[in-house]
Parts: sequence; structure tokens; C-alpha cells
Amino acid sequence: MNRAKGSAERIREVHALPVEDSAPAAIRRAAPSPRPTTAPAPAPAPAPALEIRDLRFGYRPDAPVLQGLSLTVPPHALVALVGPSGAGKSTTFALINRFYEPWSGTLRIDGRPAADLGLAEWRSHIAWVEQHCPLLHGTLRDNLCYAAPEATDERLWQVLDLVNLTRKVDRLPEGLDTEVGERGVRLSSGERQRIAIARAVLARPRLLLLDEPTAHLDPANEAALTVTMHSLRKECALLVIAHRMSTIEAADSVVMLADGTTSAAGTYPELLRTHPDFRRLSGQRQ
Ligand SMILES: Nc1ncnc2c1ncn2[C@@H]1O[C@H](COP(=O)(O)OP(=O)(O)OP(=O)(O)O)[C@@H](O)[C@H]1O
Ligand SMILES: [Mg+2]
Repeated sequence: MNRAKGSAERIREVHALPVEDSAPAAIRRAAPSPRPTTAPAPAPAPAPALEIRDLRFGYRPDAPVLQGLSLTVPPHALVALVGPSGAGKSTTFALINRFYEPWSGTLRIDGRPAADLGLAEWRSHIAWVEQHCPLLHGTLRDNLCYAAPEATDERLWQVLDLVNLTRKVDRLPEGLDTEVGERGVRLSSGERQRIAIARAVLARPRLLLLDEPTAHLDPANEAALTVTMHSLRKECALLVIAHRMSTIEAADSVVMLADGTTSAAGTYPELLRTHPDFRRLSGQRQ
């Protein structure tokens, strides 16, 4: 009874949350006429998957967290976001998902500004894999398909291959129909994370946001994640909050966040050569 009461209370809290206004800002501004004031231009071919310009934001008016952050993720690139704890990396992800409105600055996906896209359309281009990736009760197939119920078995195996899990799933007693989660087969945290990545990729995002686990990954899972990130570039662009050196080294470019702004950006060898702060940060992670 008490457990049910607790759950009911939580459901009531969720229902009481304010509903986001999901219409494009351009439409909201032009109230009587639903025509966007700026017609959404078709994206020019080489537009970056994500472009952030001069983003300013804080949770409280007197405490800015981001103070002019800019970064670009080219299509099919792997960009690593690094910086000391509290620098604003997770806040940047929250703004990219549009959980908060920035004070100023612009966000573009495929060259299309946030103001021109409603929340649902904006988020349909983004997939986000958090640090902790619990599996839900059900089969592996249920866990993979809930954002893409129409995915065929062929597509499932293709994506499992991308995340380096084909052999693991082959060895499960009932393959894709094996029960996983609390009452099913136990999978390691690295495997759970790669299943979460597979689930995200099945929805065919343009941009995958990945917050790497800070907890220790064993060498086999660490290597599998690095291979996975390489393969995923065929599918989409990646922006990864990188805690591990192997990711930073594998990235096409590295953006270092400090004091709410981009303190350095470039390839790993460039930053090592030119930025003492980056050298110090990567020294701590060796
Ligand atoms: N929901 C929130 N409300 C108020 N302040 C917050 C909130 N979330 C984060 N902050 C503050 O914003 C700043 C940036 O936090 P953020 O979580 O973005 O840092 P981070 O770079 O992700 O750090 P870490 O590497 O430890 O995850 C911190 O000072 C933090 O205390
Ligand atoms: Mg964080």
C-alpha cells in the first residue's frame, strides 16, 4: 500500500508540471497568423549538424553559468566536450535539448534556428544518452524498439553491429527475445550503455548527445565504446561529454569549456601543444 501510495504521489507530481509550449517561437510571436515570420529555409548542403553561437544562460539571474559559449559539430563528426566539474557541460546538453530557454544566443540544427522549429520537431533530430542507462523490464527487443517500434530485425542487427553487441546478443539464450532488466539477464554497465546508444540511433537522429559514464569501464568495454563511436559517425554527428582520454584522442575536435565559455577548441594534438590548461586537464586523466 505504501509503495503504491508513493508511486501515485510521484505520478501526481508529474501531472502537475507545467506543459511546455511546443510551437515554434516564430509562430508564437505571430499570434493571429500561424505563418512563421521567417520561413524555414531549406538547409544548405554542408550546414553543421549543430551550431551554437554566443549562448548565455544561468539557472538564476544573478548566477550566469554559460557566458558566450560557441561550438560547431560538423555533420558526421565526433566532437568531445571537456572541462572541469561545474563548468556547464551538462547545462549545455540541457540547452541543446531545449529544456531551458537561453538568455541570449542561437542554436541551429542542420542550419535551422531553434525559433523556427517546434520542440517535438527539434527533439526528433536529437538523441540523448545519459550517464546512467538502466534497462527496463521486458525483452532486449522491447528495450531497443520503444522509440522506433517499426524497426525491422535487419535494422536491429545492423545497429547492434554498430554498437559492437552482435556477438553478445548471439550468445544470449533467446537472442533479441531474451528477458533483460531487473528480472532478466544481467548486462554490464558498458553493455547497457551501448544498448542505450543502439536505442537512440534506431530513431535516426542527426545528432547524438552522449554523456560518458564517469564510473570505471573495464578495458574491453572501453575499447568497444571507442569502436562504437567511430562506427556511429556513419549514422549521425556526435557531441560527447568526454571523461576518458581514449574518447578525447579519438575525437575529430575537442571543445574545452571553462568559466562558461569556449576556452579552447581544436584537435587533441593541437590543444596539447598550445593550451597549458588542456595539458593539465588531460594529465589528470591519464
Ligand atoms: N538545475 C540546476 N539548478 C541550479 N543550478 C544548477 C543546476 N544544474 C547545474 N547547476 C549549476 O550550474 C553549474 C554548471 O553545472 P553543470 O552540471 O552544467 O556542470 P558540468 O560541467 O556538467 O559538471 P560535471 O563535470 O561535474 O558533471 C554548476 O555551478 C551547478 O551547480
Ligand atoms: Mg555534468
